[in-house]
Amino acid sequence: MKRKIAILPGDGIGPEIVGEAVKAIEAVAARFGHEFEMTAYPVGGAAIDATGTALPPETLSACVAADAVLLGAVGGPKWDALPSDRRPERAALLPLRAKLGLFCNLRPAKVWDALADASPLRSDIVAGGLDLLVVRELTGGIYFGAHVRGKDGLSARDDMAYSASEIERIARSAFAAARKRRGKVTSVDKANVLETSKLWRETVARLHAAEYADVALEHMYVDNAAMQLVRAPGRFDVILTENMFGDILSDEASQIVGSIGMLPSASLRADGFGLYEPIHGSAPDIAGRDVANPLATILSAAMMLRHSFGLDAEAEAVENAVRTALARGLRTADIARDGAPSAGTRAMGAAVCAALRK
Ligand code: IPM
Ligand code: MG
Repeated sequence: MKRKIAILPGDGIGPEIVGEAVKAIEAVAARFGHEFEMTAYPVGGAAIDATGTALPPETLSACVAADAVLLGAVGGPKWDALPSDRRPERAALLPLRAKLGLFCNLRPAKVWDALADASPLRSDIVAGGLDLLVVRELTGGIYFGAHVRGKDGLSARDDMAYSASEIERIARSAFAAARKRRGKVTSVDKANVLETSKLWRETVARLHAAEYADVALEHMYVDNAAMQLVRAPGRFDVILTENMFGDILSDEASQIVGSIGMLPSASLRADGFGLYEPIHGSAPDIAGRDVANPLATILSAAMMLRHSFGLDAEAEAVENAVRTALARGLRTADIARDGAPSAGTRAMGAAVCAALRK
C-alpha cells in the first residue's frame, strides 16, 4: 500500500514524540512492505515563528492533499500573550479540525497490563480492567460559537450551538463503535440546564430507537459522569458527548488509567480521512530533554493505520510492540514508579521499533 502522510510536529515536545512515531511507521512499512511518504510541515507556534501565522496555507493544503495527518502538539508560553484568535490553539488546531471536517474524535482509554498499578484509583475500583472510549464531537458547540468580549472589557460571551444533524452524525459514530466493543453507549449532557443538551438527548434517543436498539443506551448528566468515572469507571464502554464535555472527561479518563502520556486520539471525517495526535499538550516544561513519553503518539499512529488505511494487522503489530516494550520494563518518567529509573523518549521509541522489527 502507498499512502501520503502529512507530519505536523508542532511545539514543545511535539517534534520529539512525532520523531519516534515516524520511526515506528517506517518500521511498519519495512515489515509489511508498504510505502508511506511522510513530509513535515510547520504548525502552531513554530509556524508563527517561521511564517507569521499558526496555520500557513501550505500546511493546510498539504493536509488536504494527504491521506492522513499526524500531529504532535501546539502551543506554549512563548505565544500565550498573543491575541487569543492568533494563539496556536485557536489559530491552528481548531481551524485544522474545522477545515478538514474532523467531527468525530475517538479517545480510547485503557489500562495496559504492565501498567495495572499506574492508576491512582484503589485497586478494587480498577479490578477487572478499564477500557473505555470517549467519542467527542469535535467541530461544533462552544468551541466554534462566537467568542465575544464586551466593549468595556468587563463582560464576555461564548455561544454554544448544536443542530440535530451534527448530533446525529456523532451519535452514529458512537453507536457503530459500541457495536464493535461491549455494546453500550453512555450519552453525556447537561439536559437539566442547557437547551443544546436537551436537543442532544432527544436526538440521541430518537436515533437509538430508530436504528440502534441493539446497543444499550443510557443518558447521564456531565457532573455525574465526572463522578462515576472515578467511582465506578468499569461501568463505561463508549462515552458519547459534545465538544467541551469531551475535552474535560477525556483528560479525566486519561488519569484514571495512569498517564495522559499513554492516550492516543483519532479525529475523523465521515470518509475515514483523519488527523491523529496524542491527547496531551506540548508540555513546554519538559521539551527538548528526551523525557517525554512517545507512546501516545506511537499509539496514535496505530490508530491511523487502522482507521484511515484499514491496516488492522499493522495497527495491532504497533500495539503489541508497545506492549512488549512495557513488558520489558521500560518506563518513561510519567509512568515510572517513584524512584525507579526511567527511559528517555528515544529509548522508548527504539524499544517499540525493535519489537516491530522482530
Ligand atoms: C485537546 C486540547 C485542545 C482542546 C486545546 C489545545 C484547544 O485540550 O485536544 O483536548 O481543547 O480540544
Ligand atoms: Mg483537552
